[in-house]
Amino acid sequence: MDRWLNSLEETARQALAVPLFRYLSQGARDGTTASEAHAAWAEFRLLPHVLRDVTEIDTRTTVLGTELTCPVAVAPTTLQRAVHPDGELAMARATAATGSLVVVSSNAGTPFADIGATGADWWLQVYLSADRTLSEPLLASAVAAGAKALVLTVDTPVVGTKYDGAGPTVWETTDPAILRVNAEPDLSEAPGAEKATDLGPHDIGWLAETTGLPVVVKGVLRPDDARRCVQAGAAGIWVSNHGGRQLDRSVSTAAALAPVAEAVGSEAEVYVDGGVRSGLDVVTALSLGARAVFLGRLPLYALVGGESAVQRMLTDLQDELVDALRLSGCRHLGDTRGLAVRGPLTGL
Ligand SMILES: Cc1cc2nc3c(=O)[nH]c(=O)nc-3n(C[C@H](O)[C@H](O)[C@H](O)COP(=O)(O)O)c2cc1C
Repeated sequence: MDRWLNSLEETARQALAVPLFRYLSQGARDGTTASEAHAAWAEFRLLPHVLRDVTEIDTRTTVLGTELTCPVAVAPTTLQRAVHPDGELAMARATAATGSLVVVSSNAGTPFADIGATGADWWLQVYLSADRTLSEPLLASAVAAGAKALVLTVDTPVVGTKYDGAGPTVWETTDPAILRVNAEPDLSEAPGAEKATDLGPHDIGWLAETTGLPVVVKGVLRPDDARRCVQAGAAGIWVSNHGGRQLDRSVSTAAALAPVAEAVGSEAEVYVDGGVRSGLDVVTALSLGARAVFLGRLPLYALVGGESAVQRMLTDLQDELVDALRLSGCRHLGDTRGLAVRGPLTGL
C-alpha cells in the first residue's frame, strides 16, 4: 500500500513551474530550519496506553470557540491562485467540507467576501505596516466578511533571504492581479506602508480593540515571549518558525512547543505548525501541548489537484490521527498528554 500523502510534493514539483515550486518549498538562507522541521517530530517516541476502550475515537475540538472535527487546520500561505485557479476558494471549500478552518493570508488573491461566502470558518493573518492606520481598511473588510479571529505574524520584520539561483523569480512570473486583492484602496506605495519593524505587545491590544476580534500571535518560539503575548491579551499563541522561511537555524517547532505550552498554561490556546505531515506528527504535537496544528506546504501541494485533493488530504490526515490515537489507547485528544517522550532510542 502506498501513502497518497507522500506523493503530493512530487506531484506538485512536476505540475508547477520551476520558480513557483521553488518558492513554495524553499527555506531561508541554507534551508537548515526548513529541512529539519519534519524530522524533529520523529525525535519523539510514543508511550502508548493499553487496556483501554478505543472503540469510539473522538477527534473533535474547538479553537477560540469554533468547532473542528479534527485538530488540524490550514495555515496562511500566499500564491494559492498561482497553484490553482480556484486558490483560496478551493482551500476554504475543502476546509468547510471537512469541518476544519482556514487562515487566509493578508496577501490572498481572492476577495474576503468570496471566502466568507463559502461558509468556511476563517481567520485573517496580518502583517502590520509601519503606519498602523494603513492596515485598518484591510482589517475592516475582513471583519465585514466574517473573519473570526486575527493572526498577527510577528516573525517577519523583514522577509527572510532566499536564494533563487538561475532563471526568473516567482515574482517575475506571477500575474500581480492574483496578489493582495484585498488591499483596497491600494496603499502599498504610501509612506509608512512597509512592514513594521517596531512591533510590540501593545499591537496585540490595538488589533483587538480595532477589530473586536480575538488575536492569535504567530511566530512565537520562546516561553518568555509567549508570556508577554498572554499578558498583552493574546487569545492564542502559535508556535512557528514560518516554515523555516525567516530566521534560518531557528529551533524546530517540535522542540519549542512544550516549553511554550507550559509557560502559557490555560491562559491562552497554543497551536503549532512546521513540518507536520502525518497523524503521528499531530498526535505528538497534541501530546506536547498543542490544541491544534496547522499545515502550510501540505495543503499547498494538495491544491495542485484542486478542492477535492485538499479535502482528501485533510480526510487522510484525520484517518491517520484516529489510527494513531486508537493504537495509543487515547479516546479523546486530552488523553494524549504525556504520550510523547524524547529521544528515539533512549526509552524513558
Ligand atoms: C509558500 C508559503 C507562503 C507563506 N505565506 C505566509 C503568509 O503570507 N503569512 C504567514 O504568516 N505565513 C506564511 N507562510 C508560513 C506558513 O503559514 C506556515 O507557518 C508554514 O508554512 C508551516 O510549515 P509547513 O509548511 O512545514 O507546514 C507561508 C509558507 C509558505 C510555504
